[in-house]
Amino acid sequence: MKTEKTILITGGAGFIGSHVVRRFVNKYPQYTIVNGDKLTYAGNLENLTDIESAPNYVFEKIDIVDKNAVTGLFIKYNFDGVIHLAAESHVDRSISAPDDFVFTNIIGTVNLLNASLHIWKENKEGKKFYHISTDEVFGSLGKEGKFTETTAYDPRSPYSASKASSDHLVRAYGHTFGIPVVVSNCSNNYGPNQFPEKLIPLAINNIKNNKPIPVYGKGENIRDWLYVGDHVEAIDLIFHMGKPGETYNIGGNNEWKNIDLIKLLCRIMDKKLGRPEGTSEKLITYVKDRPGHDLRYAIDSSKLQKELGWKPIPDFAAGLELTVDWYLSNTLWLERVISGEYEKYYENMYAGR
Ligand code: NAD
Ligand code: DAU
Repeated sequence: MKTEKTILITGGAGFIGSHVVRRFVNKYPQYTIVNGDKLTYAGNLENLTDIESAPNYVFEKIDIVDKNAVTGLFIKYNFDGVIHLAAESHVDRSISAPDDFVFTNIIGTVNLLNASLHIWKENKEGKKFYHISTDEVFGSLGKEGKFTETTAYDPRSPYSASKASSDHLVRAYGHTFGIPVVVSNCSNNYGPNQFPEKLIPLAINNIKNNKPIPVYGKGENIRDWLYVGDHVEAIDLIFHMGKPGETYNIGGNNEWKNIDLIKLLCRIMDKKLGRPEGTSEKLITYVKDRPGHDLRYAIDSSKLQKELGWKPIPDFAAGLELTVDWYLSNTLWLERVISGEYEKYYENMYAGR
């Protein structure tokens, strides 16, 4: 049955992508949602078991670097819209092995743009290519100021350079070929289903297992944390109401020094695990800094708030508690994820630190 729209969500088996897929499948039964994902180490279909048999949901295993496969997928479904999240997303991996970041984040994005251009050549009315990007493209802030939509790009890691490159290509295809493109740049997300290589789930898992919590350098780097549900809400608004050619910054207005965040998490974990206060903090271990470690990110999201009426949840401690509860009650998910490749990766990453 032909539905109102057929939408491709790339990277839908990953952390943020799985939350986007769930929201779109449940909220828009009039759309067909195609989740296109390669299922790398970060892609996990177990994130989506609750909606996998929904009549408006389809999974397609696809590597976006494979040009022919991407073209074939677009011809098969004749998509009306694309929400592009598939990416190599972990900064530390981009430092130890940058090549996949170039292939997936740059070449993969170009393949999606070319395929969109091909099927939308005759009629671009009502179509949209929405590219999900990161605040890391803007580089690193000092003590003052925030990134706005007009901040000059200054990527400083292979990850952020590959995302910056893909942002430029998306805008160039909009400008040159008239594809209706929208880009958003978001700050650090946290919440259920995040792969435990990223700071918050890694720390939760280590605290649970009485393992050291590795804090890079002096723990003084600052990130602007946003609950994944707030990002998904913004993605929904921008996909439906964002103006073609525009960029929207998304952030939590919620800056934390890494060490302060870890200490808050330790207090929450002590409470949840029934351990005496101060137990988890003893696990904090300062390790060698990340090469080229960006000092501070902070997002000014006033454009999104004013133009599209978006607002993040204000209570970070509540969002963190929700996240801790999820990880503590989904031990099977965590155990399955922390096996095989992740364990090997983990050993390599922290060897000698
Ligand atoms: P993630 O690593 O959890 O998931 C990435 C997904 O992409 C996985 O399902 C993986 O299998 C898939 N994928 C990777 N390479 C692929 C390929 N070649 N072909 C098809 N699929 C492939 O990432 P995430 O944290 O959910 O981030 C999603 C997007 O949001 C990324 O584009 C990232 O740059 C952006 N972003 C993330 C954050 C954050 O804090 N996590 C913040 C801002 C922006
Ligand atoms: O800002 C948005 C970006 O946030 C996204 O585009 C990326 O996909 C996402 O991975 C994230 O990048 P960060 O590098 O900021 O996230 P990460 O969780 O890796 O690290 C957060 C901070 O914690 C950073 O300053 C490095 C530090 N850190 C990280 C790890 C994994 C530690 O101190 N110890 C650790 O073990």
